[in-house]
Amino acid sequence: MTTPPKPIDIVPLKNRPAWKALEEHYARVRDLQLRQLFATDPQRSGTFTVEAVGLYFDYSKHRINAETRNLLVELAEQSGLRQHIDAMFRGDKINVTEQRSVLHVALRAQKGEPFFSDGVDVVPEVHAVLDKMAAFAEQVRSGAWKGHTGKRIKNVISIGIGGSDLGPVMAYEALKHYSQRDMTFQFVSNVDGTDFVEATHGLSAEETLFIICSKTFTTLETMTNGRTARSWALNQLKDEKAVAKHFVAVSTNTAKVVEFGIDSANMFEFWDWVGGRYSMDSAIGLSTMIAIGPDHFQAMLAGFHAMDEHFRTAPFHQNLPVLMGLLAVWYNTFFDAQTVAVLPYDQYLKRFPAYLQQLTMESNGKQVTLDGKRVSYQTGPIYWGEPGTNGQHSFYQLIHQGTKLIPCDFIAFLQTLNPVGTHHELLLANVFAQAEALAFGKTPDEVRSEGTAEWLVPHRTFEGNRPSTVILAERLTPETLGKLIALYEHSVFTQGTIWQIDSFDQWGVELGKALANRIIPELAETADKELTHDSSTNALIRKYRKLSANSSK
Ligand code: F6P
Repeated sequence: MTTPPKPIDIVPLKNRPAWKALEEHYARVRDLQLRQLFATDPQRSGTFTVEAVGLYFDYSKHRINAETRNLLVELAEQSGLRQHIDAMFRGDKINVTEQRSVLHVALRAQKGEPFFSDGVDVVPEVHAVLDKMAAFAEQVRSGAWKGHTGKRIKNVISIGIGGSDLGPVMAYEALKHYSQRDMTFQFVSNVDGTDFVEATHGLSAEETLFIICSKTFTTLETMTNGRTARSWALNQLKDEKAVAKHFVAVSTNTAKVVEFGIDSANMFEFWDWVGGRYSMDSAIGLSTMIAIGPDHFQAMLAGFHAMDEHFRTAPFHQNLPVLMGLLAVWYNTFFDAQTVAVLPYDQYLKRFPAYLQQLTMESNGKQVTLDGKRVSYQTGPIYWGEPGTNGQHSFYQLIHQGTKLIPCDFIAFLQTLNPVGTHHELLLANVFAQAEALAFGKTPDEVRSEGTAEWLVPHRTFEGNRPSTVILAERLTPETLGKLIALYEHSVFTQGTIWQIDSFDQWGVELGKALANRIIPELAETADKELTHDSSTNALIRKYRKLSANSSK
C-alpha cells in the first residue's frame, strides 16, 4: 500500500473535554481512601457492581467515585468508542496499518446472522469450516479416523506459536474437565528442540496426529517444528503416504500448506480478517474441539457471542468490557500504574494469564497513534499473573506492601468442578480475603491493638487502598470461558480506541525475526568470516562458533 489510509476523524486524546475534566478530577480524587469510600456509602458495593451475561463484576474496590465513572464513560463516548464498535461489527478495515477488517466476532456468529468483509457475508464460510471441524473431531474422538497402520489416534499434538498456540493450550487446560480422557493433548511452540522432544517422548507415531497451526504457514518456529514432526513420524512409519493420516493443517495459506506436503483436503481454513491472537475460536481451536467435542465447542462460541452482544448493545456504564477497559486506562494513564495482575482462583485457568499476555500486550503495546504520531501518554499495561492461591505465597507480598500500584483482576467460580472436602470454601475464602486485605489494609493502630511491639508496627502495617475487581461466575464451563475471553478481548479494544492506536497489528515483532534470519547462516559459517553487527552481537556469534567448532571435533 503506497498511500496512507484516510485519517480517523477523532480529536486527539488530550484535547477531548472529558480527558481535561479527568485530569482535574484525578488531582482531586487520587488520594481517596477505599476505607472512607465504603464507610461513607453503605450502598457502594451495589453501585459499583454489574451483573450481566452470567458474570458478577464487582469493581467497587477501585479508587473511583461516581463522578470518575461518569467522566470515564464520557471519555469513551468522546473517543468514538460507539462508532468504533459499530465499525468493527460492520467489517470496516479498522486494522488500519494492515488494511484489514477485524471480525473475530463473526467466528461466533449464529447461522444466518450476517457479517461482511469486503462486501461478502463471511458467516456461511465460518459455519462450513466449523462443520468440517466437527466431522473431523468426531472421527478422531470415536476412533473412526485411523492412522496409517490402522490404529486409532490417541495423541494429538498441536504445533503453532503465539496466537496459533496460546489460545489452544489455555483452552485445553481450562476445559480439561470436559475433555476426552483416553486421549493426550500436547502443544509444541518453542523452536527450542526440547519442546518437541519432550512432547513426543514415548509416543508412537502410529497413534499420533499432528495439527500444524499457522495463519501464514511461514513462521520459523512452526515450520521448523512441523518439519521435525514430519521426519519423526516418517522415521517410524516409513511411508510418505502416512502424512495424509497423521498431519492436518490450519491456515489461511493453502499454497504453503500444499507445499509443506499436506493435502488441501486436510486443511482447515481461516481468514485474514481474524487476527492471530483473536483466533482460538476459529479452526485454530481444532485441538480444543477434538478434546472437548463439538457440542462443548459450540457452547464456548455461544459464550463468546453472548459477551459480543453485551459489548455491542449495553450502555457503557453497565458494559463489562467497557468498564474493565476504562479502569485499565484510569490506572495506567492517570496513576501511572505499569501493570495489571490477573489472578484466577481456579487451577484450570493456570494458562489464562499467559494467554492474556499476547492478547493485551501484542494488541496495545504501541507507541504511535493511528495517524503515525508519537503518543504523549502511557499505552498498554503489562499483564501478568498466576492462579490463586499459589501467588499468595510468592509475589502478593509486593502487591500488598510494595511501592508499586498494581490493580488486580480476581476471577473465581462459586461452584467447583472438583468437590473435594472443604478445598473450595478455602479457595473462595482466600480470594475474597485478598481483595478485602488489598482494599482496606491494616492501620498502625490496628496493628498496635494486637500487642505488636512498636518497632515492628511499620512492618506489619498494610496501607491498603490497593484496587481490585472481583469477577465471579457460577461454574467454569465452556460457555463461561468464552465469556471471559471475549470480556478481555473487548476490554483491549476499548483501551486501544481511547488511546487511538491500532490494536490489531504487531509490527513490533518483525525486527527481531529479520535479524534472526540474518544471524542463522552466520552461526554456521567458518570462525574467521567477517561479521558486521555491533561488537556485542559479533562477540556472541563468535563465542557460539568457537564452542560449536570445539564440540564437533
Ligand atoms: O509473533 C507474531 C505473530 O505474528 C503473532 O501475532 C501470531 O499469532 C504468531 O506470530 C504466529 O503466526 P502464524 O499463525 O502466522 O504462524
